[in-house]
This record gives sequence, C-alpha cells and structure tokens, in this order.
Amino acid sequence: MKTFKNFVAGTWVDAASGDSFENRNPADWNDVIGKFPRSGSEDVARAVESAKRGFALWSRTPSPLRGDVLRKMGDIMTARKEEIAELMTREMGKPLQETRGDVQEGIDTAYYAATEGRRLFGHTVPSELRNKWAMSFRRPIGVCGIITPFNFPMAIPTWKMFPALLCGNACVFKPAEDVPHTGTVLVEIMLEAGLPPEVIQLVHGLGEEVGAAIVDHPEIPVVSFTGSTETGRIVGEICGRMHKRLSLEMGGKNAQIVMDDADLDLALEGVLWGAFGTTGQRCTATSRLVVHDRVHDELLSRLVDRVRALKLGDGRTRGTEVGPMINEAAVKKTARYIDIGQAENADLLTGGARAQGDGLANGWFFEPTIFARVEAGSRLEQEEIFGPVLSVIRFRTVDEAFTINNDVRYGLSSSVYTRDVNVAMRALNELDTGITYINAPTIGAEAHLPFGGVKQTGNGHREGGWEVYDFYSETKVGYLDFSGALQRAQIDTYDV
Ligand code: UN1
Repeated sequence: MKTFKNFVAGTWVDAASGDSFENRNPADWNDVIGKFPRSGSEDVARAVESAKRGFALWSRTPSPLRGDVLRKMGDIMTARKEEIAELMTREMGKPLQETRGDVQEGIDTAYYAATEGRRLFGHTVPSELRNKWAMSFRRPIGVCGIITPFNFPMAIPTWKMFPALLCGNACVFKPAEDVPHTGTVLVEIMLEAGLPPEVIQLVHGLGEEVGAAIVDHPEIPVVSFTGSTETGRIVGEICGRMHKRLSLEMGGKNAQIVMDDADLDLALEGVLWGAFGTTGQRCTATSRLVVHDRVHDELLSRLVDRVRALKLGDGRTRGTEVGPMINEAAVKKTARYIDIGQAENADLLTGGARAQGDGLANGWFFEPTIFARVEAGSRLEQEEIFGPVLSVIRFRTVDEAFTINNDVRYGLSSSVYTRDVNVAMRALNELDTGITYINAPTIGAEAHLPFGGVKQTGNGHREGGWEVYDFYSETKVGYLDFSGALQRAQIDTYDV
C-alpha cells in the first residue's frame, strides 16, 4: 500500500505519533488509495513553528514576485489537469468532467491571484490638513489555518490558500480526511512552483484532532473553514474566545424557483444539474425545487423520467452521470432523511435507497431521489442533507415562492427561472442569499466573483474575487506630515 506523509518544516514526515489512516475509493472500497499520517497537536505545533519562519521570509517578498510563483502553480496545474482529475475522481467519486472543472477552478484562482500581486490596492486619500498625506495599504497577517472539505478537493483549498499566499501569509493546511491525496498533490505543485518550503505546511488527519489543534493554536491568528454549520459553530466559538479572524463557509438549503412563464426545458436541465451534480454534495446544491402550480405537474413528470434514467457509476467510466457519495456516514445520513421525509408524509416519487446494480456493489452509491408534496417548514424542507435528494414544493404567487426561499436558516444560493424581467429583478433584491442566479442553476459560481452566503451559511466574509484579499490582509494606515509644524487633526483645519 502506498504511504503518504505530512509536509512539515520543509520535509515529508510521518505523524509524530506514527499513527495513520486509510483512504479508499468511494466507488470501490476495495481500492485503497493509501495510508496517510493521522496527526495531532504535536504535528500542528511543529508546523506552526516552521510556518512562522516561512512567514518572516515570504511576507518580505514583493507581492508581484509572490504572484509569479502563483502563476507557476497555475501553469503546473494546467499541464497536469487530466492526471489530477483522474486521481481526484478516484479519491472522491464525482465524474471526470466535474473533477476537470474542479482543477480548472484552481487554475483560474491561481491566475487571478498572480495578477492581484500587481494590484493589492490600498487607498490614497486627501488629508484634512495642509502638506500631509494619508493612505491605506495592506500587510500580511501571519500563519493561516486552512481547513477544507472533500467535495471540491482542489478548488476550495486554492480559493483559500492562493489569496492567503499572495497576500504574504504562510499556511497550515488540513485537507479533509477523505481527500488527502489531492491535498498532497496541491502541496507538491506549490513547492514545484517555487514556494519557499516553510511557507506551506501540510498536516493530514481528522477534524477532531488536527482541525481542532489548528483552531486552538494561539499562533494561528487567521482560520478559514468550509464545512458544516454545526462544526462551524464550534470553530467560531473557539476563534471568538481567542480573537481570531475567521472565515466560515457552511451549509445551504438552496432553492430553484420555477415561475409559470419559465422555459421549462431550461428549468429541467437546470434542476438536474443543480440537484444531482456532485451527487448533491455541494453547499450550493439545489435541494428544493419550488414550482408554480400551473407548471408543477408537467415539470415534475418530465423530471422524474430524467432522474430515473441518470447513469450511476464510477466517475472514471465514460457515460457516468452521477458518482458515489463520499463515505458510509454520508449514505446513512441521506437514508435518515428518506425516513424523515416519509414520516412527514412527503411523496417519494423516485429513489430513496442505496443504489444496486452493475458495478455499484462495492461503492457508496445512493439513488437520486425526489420527494414531492413537501411541506414548507418540514425537516425535509429545512435541513441540509448534502446528498442526492430533491424536495419539491408547490406555490401560487411570487410572494409565496420568495417566502419559501427565505424561510430557512441558510442563505447561500438561489435560482429563479422566469422570462419576466420584473420578477427577475425582484428576485435579486428580495431573495436572502449571497448569490442569486436568473435562468441558471444554483451551482456554478465563478472563481473571480465573491462567493459566500448570508444567515447561518457564513459569518460575513466572502471567498473568491477581490473581496477575499481583504480577509487575508490587514489594513494599515500611514500619515505623512511634511508641513514641518505640529498640525492637529480636527482642530487646525478651520483656516480656509
Ligand atoms: C461548495 O460546494 O462548497 O458554485 C462550493 C459552485 C462551485 C463551488 C461549490 N463553484 O457550485
């Protein structure tokens, strides 16, 4: 069996304890990808000591030069795109076309970061006093703790680390324990691109062990976490107590609303991709389809036919449309929600069980599932499942549809299919989500725009685009008084 290591203090090492864990292909659990170090707080402590030295060096490197290193990362990822997609599909299951997209999102993030190295704008503003300049600029912060999920094993770590690095910080990176191989490859690429070794530390292991040690470490002032709202709450409590800067990107219960004037062919393709892409394991996944009464039955009957025909299988096999779920726990959680839906008297139209069939016996496959007649306010309608389960809710007025969308504790993404520009504009204004799509599914955010949600999806920060650079840098203000005299702000300003 292949054995993988941490990258700590500039070398590839085992966990201090010598413990390890296995990682398996979710489409075939007999296929063992390798053994990875099961690290703990001692490993994190060593990583932080080294990262502080990395930070001292890297934070003094001019940001355009840091950008050049980021550009090389993008170049290497471009050259290795197909190979990374293959190993990522083997590791987490989604079909190759999706893992290619995942790598592409990383490449786009690298090139965006590379050019940001020549911007990282501050402001120069007039002073209220004569012969005095006032400006703001950015400074790096320190060692960032990066804790990432399994569903975008390449894209999400790059969303966090590329901007963090471009801003001059060092990173301690813990990839999800289900995708340590992809995390390892990303770190190899960073090093090959010329990142000074102590700037990046890779510490494998479990959330409760390594994740917790990162969050708890007093010399990690910045933490970025993507995962469940429940775990995010614990992370937030600790970071709050320790006055850490924290970016949380958590759950969703995203709705696609279909008005009676919608292009139904388009709406059908949209919900298929939004609900069952990545086997529903996206925080942006469409988990509610909110349909106007007049088109409800037609759309639903067409949707059920299409969902029944979706081809499940190993994501590396040509023709596979839906891959496995990530692990046994994910399958069990989804199965629990099937029971909840039935107890709540929703109509199970298709799916609802572990998938059987050729090539599916040794994988964590679950049938794409549709519940109709789902009650607004029910658990099925309110709670994040993170699996291939779609709840359909009927409405009659625009106000009703928008209320259904907004009456959940999450607020990441929403989508409205309509040809009415007034409804579209109202949706942008009134839907309580960080992102609203018009005539497009709830998934598919682009790397150069801010990404994140409102309410219990996040804590006010955004990843992606230009806004993430605010998170990973500290604003500093400089005043230069060249008047040669004591000038008092707010006092010596009246003399026009
Ligand atoms: C996530 O599921 O955490 O918008 C991120 C999308 C992807 C990212 C999803 N670009 O669906």
